[in-house]
Parts: sequence; C-alpha cells; structure tokens
Amino acid sequence: MALSPAPQSAALPPPMFTTWARVGLIIVAAGRGERLGQDKAWLPLGDRPVVAHSLAALAVAPVERAVLVVAAGRLDVGRALAARAAVPTVAVVGGARRQDSVRHGLAALGPCEWVVVHDAARPFADHALLVRALEAARATGAAVTAVPVKDTIKRVRGGRVVETLPRAELWAVQTPQVFRGELLARAHREVAVEATDDAALVEQLGVPVAVAEGAYANIKLTTPDDLVLARLLWQQRAGAVEGG
Ligand code: CTP
Ligand code: MG
Repeated sequence: MALSPAPQSAALPPPMFTTWARVGLIIVAAGRGERLGQDKAWLPLGDRPVVAHSLAALAVAPVERAVLVVAAGRLDVGRALAARAAVPTVAVVGGARRQDSVRHGLAALGPCEWVVVHDAARPFADHALLVRALEAARATGAAVTAVPVKDTIKRVRGGRVVETLPRAELWAVQTPQVFRGELLARAHREVAVEATDDAALVEQLGVPVAVAEGAYANIKLTTPDDLVLARLLWQQRAGAVEGG
C-alpha cells in the first residue's frame, strides 16, 4: 500500500530524554473535552485531578520514564504534576488532534524499546492492565487492551439502520496500548489517516496488533454521564480501601 507521509507539525518538541530506555510512557491530556463540555483531564476526582490518577497508575516499573502531553495553557500545572511522578517525567504541549499530541510525546520521550500510550481521560487504569499489554505486545510488537462489547452494534446512516454487526467479533478498545518504539514512530511518520487511537496507525502498516484483556472499569471520561460514573467508581474504591 502506498502511504503518503503524515503532515508534520513545525512545533515538535526537542527530545527531553536522550538516553535509551526499555519502557517509556506517554499520557495524552491535551484534548478539549468537547463532548463532556469541560477540560476533563483536570477535573477533580476524589483528592486529585483525573490526569493525576492516570499518571500515578502507569508511571511505575517497568516504565522508566514518562511524558505528559498537555494543552498549552496547562504547561505549568503539567510540569508540577510531572515533577511529583514516581518515574522521571516531563510535560510538553500537545497538538490539534490526539495523534499530533502522541507525536509530540514521542519526540520528547526519546529512544525507547517499548512505548506505552495512555489517555489521561482513563483514570481507572492499573498496573495489571499495563503488564498484560506489555506481555501481549511481545508477540507482534503492538498490543491494545480491549473488552468484548456488551451492546449490539449496528451501522446507522441518516437515522436508519444499515446493518447489524456480529457482536462476537466486536471489542471496545482502550488504552494502555503498547508498541515497539520504532514501530510507533514509523506509524506516526508514515501514516496520514486520521485515527482515534495509535493501533489504527500501526494497523495501516500491516503489522498485527495483539489484544490484551482490558477492564470494563477502565472507562474513558467522554460525556457528562461518564463523570458521574467515575465519581461513583472512585467513591466505591476509596470506601473499599478505607474499609480494608
Ligand atoms: N487528546 C490529546 N490531544 C488532542 C486530543 C485528545 O492529548 N488534540 C487526549 C485527551 O486529552 C484524552 C485522550 O486524548 O485524554 C482521548 O481523547 P478524547 O476522549 O477524544 O478526549 P478529547 O479530545 O479531550 O474529547 P472530545 O473528543 O470530546 O473533544
Ligand atoms: Mg477527542
């Protein structure tokens, strides 16, 4: 397949880490939260903003360093959060689309054998998800976390059902997603399609993407009802911890 080069933004940050690492992490928090109506990464969830939960969950061994990608107006608060992370972490400014933000993250992250990409808007990710994704990626160089869809999914056009898709084959794909660093960089360099996750770019290169078990609780804050659900989930978890 002929691939046209992806449009390159002039404002890629310089590498912030210059040594080699085995596992690097990129957390993208530079979206506008249009469907939720608020900058969701920075909304409070319990004692901390949403993005602080995502960073605390995944910026742990075997991750060796991390890049937090934030909106231009959040660089100071992003840097303050990065400074408190459990692994060396820097904050950089993202781009117009999610994939531009990941590209900025990759540029800052420098050379890594494996790169974990995670949406800041998924504050309930945990270490078990990270480990499953890393293990699954070993086979092909790329892995997503995902869960089987529960609803019946139909293709709809103009308010009319066009077709019913076979549910047994449908999975809701989440982050974390894990890639060989060189593969992810190549996908972002060479693939021009617009994509809502990184695996979609890697798929365009013809590289098989493995599927690791995700978690139904690993929700993405997308619409206002997700925020209600997230606060309930958080209360339940905090209560479970307090109650021993
Ligand atoms: N994201 C990003 N840079 C962008 C767009 C999205 O870093 N230009 C991040 C978001 O901050 C979020 C993740 O990608 O953590 C998943 O994207 P999504 O749920 O679509 O978030 P938003 O783009 O912020 O929301 P919306 O599409 O409703 O505007
Ligand atoms: Mg979006």
